[in-house]
Amino acid sequence: MRKIIIAGNWKMYKTIPEAINTVNSVKAGLHKVSDVEIVVCPPFTAIHTVAGLLEDSVVDLGAQDMHYETEGAFTGEVSPLMLKDIGCRYVILGHSERRAHFKESNDLVNKKAKGAVKFNLIPIVCVGETLAERESGRQLDVVRAQFAGTFKGFTAEDMEKVVIAYEPVWAIGTGKTATPDQAQEMHAFVRSLVQEMFGEETASGLRILYGGSVKPDNTAELINQLDVDGALVGGASLKAESFVQIVNAAVQAVVSKE
Ligand code: 13P
Repeated sequence: MRKIIIAGNWKMYKTIPEAINTVNSVKAGLHKVSDVEIVVCPPFTAIHTVAGLLEDSVVDLGAQDMHYETEGAFTGEVSPLMLKDIGCRYVILGHSERRAHFKESNDLVNKKAKGAVKFNLIPIVCVGETLAERESGRQLDVVRAQFAGTFKGFTAEDMEKVVIAYEPVWAIGTGKTATPDQAQEMHAFVRSLVQEMFGEETASGLRILYGGSVKPDNTAELINQLDVDGALVGGASLKAESFVQIVNAAVQAVVSKE
C-alpha cells in the first residue's frame, strides 16, 4: 500500500509572520493523521522559521526548487546540501511555473532530480500538459517526453526515492480540476512508463500525486482513484483551514481505499 501524501506548495506567498500563523493553525487543526504524510513547502525566506515550528509535529518540510550543485558561484541559488541542512525532506522540482517562466528544460530538471536523490532529498517531480496540448490530443506524448527526459540515467534504486506529481497546466490556479477519470488515466499512464523503464516493483511502489485546483470537496474523489497517491496543493494550502480539510478528506479516502 502506497502511503498518501498531501503536500502544500505555498509558491511565492507568505511573509514570516504569515507563515508562522499558518503553520501554527495547521498544527492545531490536525488530529490523528498516521496514514497520510503531510508536507508544507514555504518560500525559501520562511523555511528556517517553519522548520523550527515543525520539529514537534507530523508535518514534513519541503522546498519549491533548488540548484543541482552542492555549492559554487551560482548567485541567487540554493543547493541540496543547504536544503538538507535546514531540515527539508522534500523538494518540488520541474514545476510548470518554473518550466514556463524560467525556461527549465527536462535536462535541467533531470540534473536537479539527480542532485536531490544524491542528498537524500525526496524530489517531487512535476509533469503535465498545457491546455493546447490536451485539446490537440497530445497529452500522453507530452508527458512521455517529460518523463523520459527527466528520468534519463536514473536507476530503479534512484527511482524508488522519487515522487511524481501530475499537474495539468490548465488546472493550476484555474479552478478547473481534472476529472477523476482524466487524473486516473494519466496516473496509470505515468505508472506504465515507470514500469517500462524501471520494472514492475518500482512502478507499483512509486507515488504519483495529482495537482491542479485541489480543494477540500474534490480531494476524496481524486484520491479514491487507484493510481492517485495524494495531492500537491497550491491555493488551497495557503489557508490552514482548507489545507487541514484536505488532509482530513485524504484520511477518510484512505480508509475507504483500504
Ligand atoms: P492550485 O492548487 O492553486 O491549482 O496549484 C496547483 C499547483 O501548482 C501545486 O504545485
